[in-house]
Amino acid sequence: MTAAWTPVALARDLPRLCVMPVCVDGIELALWRSATGRLAAWADRCPHRGMRLSHGFVRGEALSCIYHGWSYGAEGNCLRIPAHPDLEPPEAIRVPVYHAAESGGVVWVATQATDAPPPVVEGAPLRSLTVERAVDWAAAGLSLSGPVARGDLSSIGVTILVQPLPQGRQALHVLAEAAPPAALKEVSRDLEGLRRQAEEALA
Ligand code: FES
Repeated sequence: MTAAWTPVALARDLPRLCVMPVCVDGIELALWRSATGRLAAWADRCPHRGMRLSHGFVRGEALSCIYHGWSYGAEGNCLRIPAHPDLEPPEAIRVPVYHAAESGGVVWVATQATDAPPPVVEGAPLRSLTVERAVDWAAAGLSLSGPVARGDLSSIGVTILVQPLPQGRQALHVLAEAAPPAALKEVSRDLEGLRRQAEEALA
């Protein structure tokens, strides 16, 4: 796995014309997908008055802020200020843009420039879940190597991409080997059990 790339979501959880908040390297980002399927990861802060862009809406190839409707194009440049429709927005009004890419059904973000492509991970995307506290992988019979846990849940091979979040939370993006839907449902239950165990330790 390339350290530069962080898994942030399963690709199917971010359909076209949708935006979601994610956090990478402590940076809050608005992750969005345009009408043509282009992925983007931007600072989650509108240059106007700081509203979260992840509360905004996607139209075509642009992301618009929910507050005063300023809209931003593919490079993070401001395209339109509705209160001043005849004004060409200054070049200086820009949202910081990061690297986003899709590989193996997973969306990856890099906050630093990298020549390496995002990793390809074995398995089919199953689900993502957030855990309030680090999971005890050994207790679950899984082995952790770097940010990836591997092993079997309900006799199905799984690969779990661990995304660190602030305050010790983690997002888990899970891929599983091919299996019948009933078996995958069991895996999903096992994952919820892992989450419960981790969070009970907080109580
Ligand atoms: S805060 Fe975004 S348009 Fe005003």
